[in-house]
Amino acid sequence: MITVIPEIKRKFQLDEIRNDFPILKRLVNGKPLVYLDNAATSQKPQAVIDALTQYYTFDNANIHRGLYFLSELATEQYESSRLKVKEFINAMSVSEIVFVRGATEAVNLVASSLSNTRHFNEGDEVIISNMEHHSNIVPWQFICEKNKLSLKVIPINDAGELDMAAFKKMLNEKTKLVSVVHISNSLGTVNPVKEIIEIAHSKSVPVLIDGAQAVPHYKIDVQDLDADFYVFSGHKVFGPTGIGILYGKTEFLEMMPPYQGGGDMIRTVSFEETTYDDIPRKFEAGTPNIAGGIGLGAAIDYLNQFSRNDLIEHENLLLQYGTEQLLSIDGLKIIGTAKNKASVISFVIEGIHPYDIGTIIDTDGIAIRTGHHCTQPIMKRFNLPATARASFAFYNTVEEIDKLVDGIYKVKKMFA
Ligand code: ALA
Repeated sequence: MITVIPEIKRKFQLDEIRNDFPILKRLVNGKPLVYLDNAATSQKPQAVIDALTQYYTFDNANIHRGLYFLSELATEQYESSRLKVKEFINAMSVSEIVFVRGATEAVNLVASSLSNTRHFNEGDEVIISNMEHHSNIVPWQFICEKNKLSLKVIPINDAGELDMAAFKKMLNEKTKLVSVVHISNSLGTVNPVKEIIEIAHSKSVPVLIDGAQAVPHYKIDVQDLDADFYVFSGHKVFGPTGIGILYGKTEFLEMMPPYQGGGDMIRTVSFEETTYDDIPRKFEAGTPNIAGGIGLGAAIDYLNQFSRNDLIEHENLLLQYGTEQLLSIDGLKIIGTAKNKASVISFVIEGIHPYDIGTIIDTDGIAIRTGHHCTQPIMKRFNLPATARASFAFYNTVEEIDKLVDGIYKVKKMFA
């Protein structure tokens, strides 16, 4: 029997929450870890670590295949996670939830599968935006080349916001898909995805939303958004790596051919003909990441204990405080100043390379990301080789931001 743990709302107590994440107690270079790279990957609560240990220690067996106790137990846990994901993003049906390796694989699956249908014809257009992660650029380039399509790019303004007027003008009878990011990983911009979907749908164009950075911060309702596809990764949402979700509306998933062939995705196989299983299994060839699926379910249970509004409120406070404190540093410029932002702050400091900032503050146990953040077109747009990026989760504190600021002053002193 498949069960979903009922939501029990837990009070937002930062100290208690930090205790749930064992890694936050460790030292790095002799200093308490200050982990501010949550946009790259989030840390894992003990509950997720325990779910993985429990599975491998006591419950390990392959799923969907065995008529014995352990196989049925593992199958039940894995499928129960699928149901949790369905509830978590409010999909209409559990069959609309496809387990994949991560957001990247989900975009590749949709692009590759659609490219083998009549959805695209030579000369058609796919619209993405200037602020996409490489994972929402390169898969479309593959199929543009294969199917002779054109890739159109929505420009952004100097604050890092989409030019919606340009987007509206771009849509035409050749447009066959819009694929945009919900929250930019390098700018923090929260895009008006509901509006984008509405506009695209008014021209009968389906929309894929890359939610990798949004799901860790916001409650997502795919039916309310009316997204045709919504993708995210488990590891950014406090779950394990190597597991992610493709949500797709039934009408699309049923029309799309399989992405990979193998065991578990078929109904019958002969040398003459193979028939495929129903969705979502049609897209899940081979033994999947069973532990990852179960771990993602545990991450969802963990998040469901809280009111998401409490978590967002705290993250907004970190964003506001972090922005004010960083801007008080002479010569520091924030890249990405959209009105609607998530808790991601990219910045540059005059005369100091971001790599130097990252490397020096690491000696004090402070982890931020430096580089192009897999968004080279954004770096080009702002004429920069790289930025330093601090990205916060609900377990971060204002004291950690103070340590980041102290660390930056130390860097500035060294370069003075
Ligand atoms: N996409 C991840 C990041 O933004 C890896 O750092």
